[in-house]
Amino acid sequence: MQYRKIGKETVSSVGLGCMGFSHAYGAPTQKEEAERTIRAAYDMGYTFFDTAECYTGVLANGAVSYNEELVGNALRDVRDKVFIATKFGVTHNADKTLSLDSSPERIRRSIEGSLKRLGVERIDLYYQHRIDPTVSPETVATVMADLIKEGKIKYWGISEADEEYLRRAYAVCPVAAVQNRFSMMARHHEKLFPVLEELGIAFVAFSPMANGFLTGRYDARARFDDKEDYRGVMSQFTAEGMKKSAELIELLNRLAAEKNATPAQISLAWMLCKKPYIIPIPGSRKLDRLKENAKAAEFILTAAEIIEIDNRLNTMDFLVFGGSPVKK
Ligand SMILES: NC(=O)c1ccc[n+]([C@@H]2O[C@H](COP(=O)([O-])OP(=O)(O)OC[C@H]3O[C@@H](n4cnc5c(N)ncnc54)[C@H](OP(=O)(O)O)[C@@H]3O)[C@@H](O)[C@H]2O)c1
Repeated sequence: MQYRKIGKETVSSVGLGCMGFSHAYGAPTQKEEAERTIRAAYDMGYTFFDTAECYTGVLANGAVSYNEELVGNALRDVRDKVFIATKFGVTHNADKTLSLDSSPERIRRSIEGSLKRLGVERIDLYYQHRIDPTVSPETVATVMADLIKEGKIKYWGISEADEEYLRRAYAVCPVAAVQNRFSMMARHHEKLFPVLEELGIAFVAFSPMANGFLTGRYDARARFDDKEDYRGVMSQFTAEGMKKSAELIELLNRLAAEKNATPAQISLAWMLCKKPYIIPIPGSRKLDRLKENAKAAEFILTAAEIIEIDNRLNTMDFLVFGGSPVKK
């Protein structure tokens, strides 16, 4: 494993997105198995773990799977050696829409719940999960500054941040990381890179393999029938989406063959080699895939190769899921 920086802390250059153990990818994983797998990720070298207050799901026995609890339990004995990020401000509705609330009162309630579920005294990185248009960045940043002073969080970050919001928030309380959607199929946040470089902010890439699509392991026969599986409504997995992405999958397969890697590894290596402050957090519930993804940092794509790939990507026209809509 290689390492990167968030604030003054060193974290594994590939983090583990833990959401899928509880939420959005079909039935949640049984508690013991999920905790064993997350702990095994630490043994493989992962030290950066991503969860959120709203990552919950219902197990077959009707019990709720709280993702923060799984992460906290799994990493209890190595707490001082890992960097745990969680998020506030979003609730998932049954119709797959999101409700947003970043009011100071709500943040205060959320942090107490997250600390308890994680079983920690301080959260390493606390993200605003989505910008709440009814609350100013200055208001949110002021609460974050207070939480840092109180020792409840070490750093804060913003997910799906844009430049204006980020700059206004940063002016009140420095932001350590932005966590935005980023993959070969979703590059719209590249325009933020100069701002991140100016302010010294890490870029944590969520859904770095376009929800698994860039692993090249799905074809038109893929079915996501479970109502808990959000891939059933993601455009990249539709027949049309697959047709439009065929050229990209072909490119990934060619690069993978050239580098003796897998398409998943190439899709992660592309962003790791692009900028030294990008940290992908691929999600997987399978040990062999955790190993495969962790090894992505070993594959080098040169600056010239990245430019060539980007030039090819610029000519392609994909269908890709852009995130759940906010409830009106
Ligand atoms: N801030 C936000 O709003 C936000 C939104 C979405 C996600 N996130 C975070 O980002 C993390 C990652 O995003 P994501 O899970 O949506 O997308 P992702 O990492 O692009 O893809 C995850 C999917 O890929 C599959 N997969 C992983 N590695 C694979 C491999 N080597 N070969 C084949 N399939 C593989 C996983 O299936 P298996 O589990 O079956 O391996 C899972 O279905 C989440 O866990 C969460 O922590 C944040």
